[in-house]
Amino acid sequence: MKNLLVTGGAGFIGSNFVHMMLERYNDINVVVFDKLTYAGNPDNLLPVENNPHYHFVQGDICDAEAVDAAMQQHNIDTIVNFAAETHVDRSLMEPGGFIQTDVYGTFVLLEAAKKYQIERYHQISTDEVYGAVLTGRSVETDRLHTRSPYSAAKAGADLMCLAYYTSFDLPVTITRGSNNIGPYQYPEKVVPVFVTNAIDNKPLPLYGDGMQMRDYQYVLDHCEGIDMVLRKGQPGEIYNLGTGVESTNIELAHLILKLLGKPESLIQPITDRPGHDRRYALDCSKIKALGWNSSHNFEQAVEATVKWYVDNEWWWRKIKDGRHYQEYYRRQYAGREVTP
Ligand code: NAD
Ligand code: TYD
Repeated sequence: MKNLLVTGGAGFIGSNFVHMMLERYNDINVVVFDKLTYAGNPDNLLPVENNPHYHFVQGDICDAEAVDAAMQQHNIDTIVNFAAETHVDRSLMEPGGFIQTDVYGTFVLLEAAKKYQIERYHQISTDEVYGAVLTGRSVETDRLHTRSPYSAAKAGADLMCLAYYTSFDLPVTITRGSNNIGPYQYPEKVVPVFVTNAIDNKPLPLYGDGMQMRDYQYVLDHCEGIDMVLRKGQPGEIYNLGTGVESTNIELAHLILKLLGKPESLIQPITDRPGHDRRYALDCSKIKALGWNSSHNFEQAVEATVKWYVDNEWWWRKIKDGRHYQEYYRRQYAGREVTP
């Protein structure tokens, strides 16, 4: 791994991964390739802006010519694909963009990886491809049972990656991560919505009964797991990547309010998300066998995240004050309040 293309590197997890890789290694060039959608934010990459090993290319992973040019110009030997439409609620409003970027865009990257015979193509996937898991834990060989347009598009991408491994011997690996939290997460996902609303004494919109369960992991743990798979993972293999511990959304809301010293009366139950997956739960023994383990438990991950949002109002306030965000928020939440 010498010249690494990080697609979607201006988003939440991608930018944390870029910071980590440039801090860890001084012999790797990192090229971010990002369309800069509403979720891609140049502010996320300010800390590495002047690093001589970092380059930025604005481009769409669905644009084969642009991808090809970046591959050639930077002599890319490794791709890590974070680029995707990522929010379940938006996939319920406008699914088309998810199929385009998450499935077709992955195909374009796989074609480029094949053409240039790169050392590794790594796909960032999600625990959501297994669907709701009411009991037990998902293992990598479980059947996929997607239930939202987002998870269906991500599963399509996973299958295409495995097809390129089988059909063309492309050295592909996949990680299926659980819910990430931490710095630079766009305030549409639950943790930054709850934290930034609570800071402003605004309601925390809790879907349904709040008893849905997610495995919330700290983003840097996830990034370390990805690096571990790049170095020690076997081509053709999938690795689940999470803490292996689940929490309910109501527990999450209570913890955030406690950390910020805000009243529980801020919790506002709202109508549930259609097709809301009740629980995701991963068995992570396979990646642990490579030597990876998460270093933040739920409380530590939430505490570090809350602290970052308290300390970095400059980052999220300009997003939340913007017209795009305010229109999204109205469309997403207006009129959904229910009396508990
Ligand atoms: P994000 O929404 O914060 O960022 C996505 C990034 O991709 C943005 O920078 C955006 O500009 C870019 N992008 C979107 N469409 C593009 C296109 N057509 N061409 C080039 N760039 C494009 O997402 P995230 O939360 O950082 O998620 C990153 C990856 O991790 C995604 O593949 C997601 O499915 C996966 N994942 C996320 C989580 C989570 O909890 N956030 C958990 C598991 C897996
Ligand atoms: P989200 O952050 O959208 O991630 P995902 O649906 O991909 O797991 O949501 C995490 C959980 O929080 C999920 O159970 C839905 C719930 N949720 C709320 O209760 N209120 C909200 O405003 C949002 C965005 C999510």
